[in-house]
Amino acid sequence: MSQNELYLPSAAWQAQANVKGMAGYNALVAEAEADYQGYWARLAREFVTWQTPFTKVLNDSEAPFFKWFEDGRLNVSYNCLDRNVERGLGDKVAIIFEADDGSSSKVTYKELLGRVSQMANVLKARGVKKGDRVVIYMSMSVEGVAAMQACARIGAIHSVVFGGFSAQSLRDRVQDAGAVMVITADEQLRGGKALPLKAIVDEALDGGSCPTLKDVIVYQRTGGKIGWVEGRDHWLHEEMAGKSEVCEPEWVEAEHPLFLLYTSGSTGKPKGVQHSSGGYLLHAALTTKWTFDLQDNDVFWCTADIGWVTGHSYITYGPLALGGTEIVFEGVPTYPDAGRFWQTIAKHKVSIFYTAPTAIRSLIKAAEGNAAVHPDRYDLSSLRLLGSVGEPINPAAWEWYHKHIGGGRCPIVDTFWQTETGGHMITPLPGATPLVPGSCTLPFPGITTAIVDEMGNDVPNGQGGILVVKKPWPSMIRTIYNDPERFKKSYYPEELKGYYLAGDGAIRDAETGYFTITGRIDDVLNVSGHRMGTMEIESALVSCTELVAEAAVVGRPDDTTGEAICAFVVLKRARPTGDEAKAIAKQLRDWVAKEIGPIAKPKDIRFGDNLPKTRSGKIMRRLLRSVAKGEAVTQDTSTLENPAILDQLSEAN
Ligand code: WT7
Repeated sequence: MSQNELYLPSAAWQAQANVKGMAGYNALVAEAEADYQGYWARLAREFVTWQTPFTKVLNDSEAPFFKWFEDGRLNVSYNCLDRNVERGLGDKVAIIFEADDGSSSKVTYKELLGRVSQMANVLKARGVKKGDRVVIYMSMSVEGVAAMQACARIGAIHSVVFGGFSAQSLRDRVQDAGAVMVITADEQLRGGKALPLKAIVDEALDGGSCPTLKDVIVYQRTGGKIGWVEGRDHWLHEEMAGKSEVCEPEWVEAEHPLFLLYTSGSTGKPKGVQHSSGGYLLHAALTTKWTFDLQDNDVFWCTADIGWVTGHSYITYGPLALGGTEIVFEGVPTYPDAGRFWQTIAKHKVSIFYTAPTAIRSLIKAAEGNAAVHPDRYDLSSLRLLGSVGEPINPAAWEWYHKHIGGGRCPIVDTFWQTETGGHMITPLPGATPLVPGSCTLPFPGITTAIVDEMGNDVPNGQGGILVVKKPWPSMIRTIYNDPERFKKSYYPEELKGYYLAGDGAIRDAETGYFTITGRIDDVLNVSGHRMGTMEIESALVSCTELVAEAAVVGRPDDTTGEAICAFVVLKRARPTGDEAKAIAKQLRDWVAKEIGPIAKPKDIRFGDNLPKTRSGKIMRRLLRSVAKGEAVTQDTSTLENPAILDQLSEAN
């Protein structure tokens, strides 16, 4: 890679950035190398306000269950709200809410503190205590963010479930978390349509399936008709009426869980990733400051949903901890048309914009098809920094994003991280790192990512391997809720020398040492930046016991969504063809949508009399991946009982 393939930060950018130039970056890396704990302790004192200062930094005596800043006490909501009001930012806009219909409203820090405190008092009045779990199943709204902050304020542990998940998925999460309360909305507005939320909550909680659950709090968004269970259901506005706008924060230990967030793994059951209060808040704030270079006058917009970790770290916590101004967007990128993002950037003078490659790719297509929604027609001059997250960004999409959205002047931070990592792990710092399209570049200062082989030995640059993190870091996953053994097995397998296993493959450039992520090495798919377990989809399919005998799910590359879900299905009846096959494929897609959620619907469904298996009966997934891609099969097929099934499985429906 030669220097002229790199995009260098301008001198002006370097001069104003929170981390200035590679000299700034290198100094931080050197500080962390020289005194790892001292480095994190310094930052934890700078970025977090402690009610009781910590004296211990890292406790690794029960590795891999690490503890950070364990004798310190803090409150995350105090750090995001009260602290900013005390600093004189009470009248500063915290959130600009951009509604689906294009109307917008603003909330200041003082107002947000009042609202969160009132909501916290609602939870307390309903008996929610420190350590109780509260599930939030909400639309994108100020109330959604406030509900999370209200939990943090009283030390309750929130678990946000993305509003696109089905009743069954919601029930699984409420049960696993043992939640005492669900906070939801009557309906959510997306693309001009009202979609149910409360009705799905009702279905999830039906028939006493969740015995720990006592109350459902309902935010009225649309006023649409909903069912009501007396005694269990309560309107948020009625509960808030008359409640005090003051609520003393509950000071919790640094290790007190702030939230659980369920994510897909390589087995059928989603895992409840548990995060801490102190270490998590530190990294959310620190990465917002260094990766996004957040400054006083910025208008920050992260387009993620609060149902994903990106929304947690870069909507609810990071930007608010720094006293920033941010957009909370209710709608979808294509409503009223595919210019919505660009129009919204112009309208609110957004200066930092963070979105997913899949959105960029679909908006490129839309702009190519319709000049009216081409970004060049909008005033995007307020932008100074762009970000990408969730999946690898292909160089063509990167170049388009850089040129048409960033006007050639905005650095792009391609941030690699995971639900489990809490915040950015490998990312450029915009005033420092020379950029290479398609590479997430270098580790965040203090993060010890490396590439190793199956035995945990370092591999030289230029040679691919397994991505690991060598040392524990403050915002790391603490455990899998209810399943510490699975936590150990999934992230700290014995052969890896005590390194954290990310689950991705990666390669470092021979010359620059830059990282490029080559994709998951486990049975996890990434569809439009959404993480899906193949086993999860398989178990959803085979749970359709009337129809399905067996199913195997693999990913295949897709131009827009990155990966697409491809399901191979053996029915309990003769293999269907033609219109019948199409009808059954639709039935199965709808089934999966009902079991997991629409995001898990297989794009391709193929029927066979059987699945290709080895002599010992294992499904030949690698072969299925070739078939899904439409590649010629090069694997040994001599063990197949019925080679003709490969032709059957190549037919899409
Ligand atoms: C997986 C984590 C990070 C928050 C959103 C997704 C993939 C994420 C990148 C990137 C290449 C990326 C990885 C990772 N991924 N960011 N910049 N470049 N791949 O969080 O649902 O926990 O998924 O997303 O495969 O392991 P998640």
